[in-house]
Amino acid sequence: MPKEREQWGSRFGFIMAAAGSAVGLGNIWRFPYITGKFGGAAFVMVYLAVVVVIGISVMLAEFAIGRNAQSDAVGSFRKLGGGLWPLVGWMGFFCGFVILSYYAVIAGWTLAYMFKSFGSLMQSAAAGKAGDVFGAFVSDPVQSIAYHIAVMAIVAGIVYKGISGGIEKCCKVLMPALFVILLVLIVRSVTLPGAGAGLEFYLKPDFSKLTGEAVLAAVGQGFFSLSLGMGCMITYGSYLGKSDYLPTTAATVVFLDTSVAILAGFVIFPAVFAFGIEPGAGPGLTFVTLPAVFAKMPFGMVFSFGFFLLLFIAALTSAISLLEVVVTYAIDQLKWSRTKAAIVMGTAIALLGIPSALSVGGHIPQIAGKDFLDAADFITNNIIMPLGGIFISVFVGWVWADGAKAEVTDNGKMVFPMYTVWLWICRVVAPVCIAIIFITGLKW
Ligand code: TRP
Repeated sequence: MPKEREQWGSRFGFIMAAAGSAVGLGNIWRFPYITGKFGGAAFVMVYLAVVVVIGISVMLAEFAIGRNAQSDAVGSFRKLGGGLWPLVGWMGFFCGFVILSYYAVIAGWTLAYMFKSFGSLMQSAAAGKAGDVFGAFVSDPVQSIAYHIAVMAIVAGIVYKGISGGIEKCCKVLMPALFVILLVLIVRSVTLPGAGAGLEFYLKPDFSKLTGEAVLAAVGQGFFSLSLGMGCMITYGSYLGKSDYLPTTAATVVFLDTSVAILAGFVIFPAVFAFGIEPGAGPGLTFVTLPAVFAKMPFGMVFSFGFFLLLFIAALTSAISLLEVVVTYAIDQLKWSRTKAAIVMGTAIALLGIPSALSVGGHIPQIAGKDFLDAADFITNNIIMPLGGIFISVFVGWVWADGAKAEVTDNGKMVFPMYTVWLWICRVVAPVCIAIIFITGLKW
């Protein structure tokens, strides 16, 4: 007799896990920056429109596929589509494998910085040397690999405990904790003298900056931030029972992810402007600029620790979902036990991350002018995930529309008044929008 499939313990637990996947480094270091760059509140409005229209629709499509098929991404497409469709699942498997390999490296940096907050980081940053600390850290192969492996061990340890006993249990605690830390940091940041200038930079609507490029950035960021296009939400959806009403679940996850992204800007910009520092983006902002800001605050080490803990939680819960895509495949298709899958896949991904960790310090040659880490990021985020998003929407819109309707409404037992709107978003709006960012994002 086949073993019964694991299930989420509660609707709340599932929402926390899915939001944990979505809320990641992208919310905290990327969203605030592009908002500041592309016109503040004006950009936020476009972003909201994008995530409400495309984000909720594609997430619902992924949930419906997974819940109906009760299988991993490859198995789901094999069951519902057949033919070449399982390739879409394979693309997701590949993304989970590759993204996690470098995501765990960066998560390792956040873990290291939690500890460094109480070490000499604050003194060095106060002396204007935060950049040197970061440079020395990432180019030290022993440290960066050790933290990367530590993160992979934690991630595999949680995934090995299973859906409700591992992932759900941990996200149910970590996600509310993340909100609390975020709120404490916001209060600290906006009450700094001079915080107003940062709020103005962040949110003052400037419609002249709302260019075509800004709209593209909104679509790209929305898609990345919601972890769409690689079967992650298919995998999580495959552990759902039939009773949940998926459209509100998808909307709730999108709402939580977007709230964290918008709120993160209230931590970063007021603090950066209060101390008269130029805001930048990416790792520079996070690991260099912000330590310099914390160094100037009373009790800076506590806030620094809190901030890196926030980042670590965000990264950890995303990393868990990435490994789960790969592990669910091994369980469903290769018939491995969860224990074996978590250990073998976790180890393989940890090994693949080593070149990424080494590449940042310049220890291995670049690939066509990009570090290994950047190359892995480019191939997954700019190429495979957009293609995956297009295929998932097209699949639900054109191939499996009746099945999707039956799944969302539980064979007509529930009403889904927006069905036709959703269908046409999946058929036309989402594929076309994603295709445009795909083409413009192809520049290596
Ligand atoms: N959503 C994550 C973030 O905002 C990153 C991410 C992209 C991701 N695709 C994913 C996480 C797939 C988990 C699974 O940082």
